[in-house]
Amino acid sequence: MAIRDILIIPDKRLRVKSEPVKAIDAETRALVDDMFATMYAAPGIGLAAIQIGVATRVVTMDLAAKEESPEPKVFINPEIIGASAEKSVYEEGCLSIPEYYEEVERPQAVKVKYLDLDGKEHEIEADGLLATCLQHEIDHLNGVLFIDHISKLKRDMVMKKFKKAAKQGGGKPLADDTEPSHHIG
Ligand code: NI
Repeated sequence: MAIRDILIIPDKRLRVKSEPVKAIDAETRALVDDMFATMYAAPGIGLAAIQIGVATRVVTMDLAAKEESPEPKVFINPEIIGASAEKSVYEEGCLSIPEYYEEVERPQAVKVKYLDLDGKEHEIEADGLLATCLQHEIDHLNGVLFIDHISKLKRDMVMKKFKKAAKQGGGKPLADDTEPSHHIG
């Protein structure tokens, strides 16, 4: 189990569409272990494999509050198969866009199909934070970032800041995070 580096925008790998997992094997389990180690260390509540540079459709998540016992969840090849007409707005953040938060409107509830680590298929109906987080992470698997859901003006501004910081060798141009739990993943 190893804590891996999290890719930061404008890293182009974050725009890659990840490939489905064909066989759940030792390599998949090792990837999931590294993803949990990286996600908990960040700290974040969700992580997509591409955020550590692996273009495969794997998501880890833990929405338990700090004082609660951990509730690690793994979603392999997750797919949104239904979404509510009703929308909700949540202030999102992303470990690949550190210290930047913006309100994003998404369907309030989604139905998601996925495999667990044993290859068993599940279907869940999610709402609230779980629905937001699943949509955010599944977006990552498709090369989509939460800033794609905000205004072009705001997106251009944040991209410009991170591009400038990347040129200067550092990836964190914004102020220190005061509420790390905001980072969805
Ligand atoms: Ni993210």
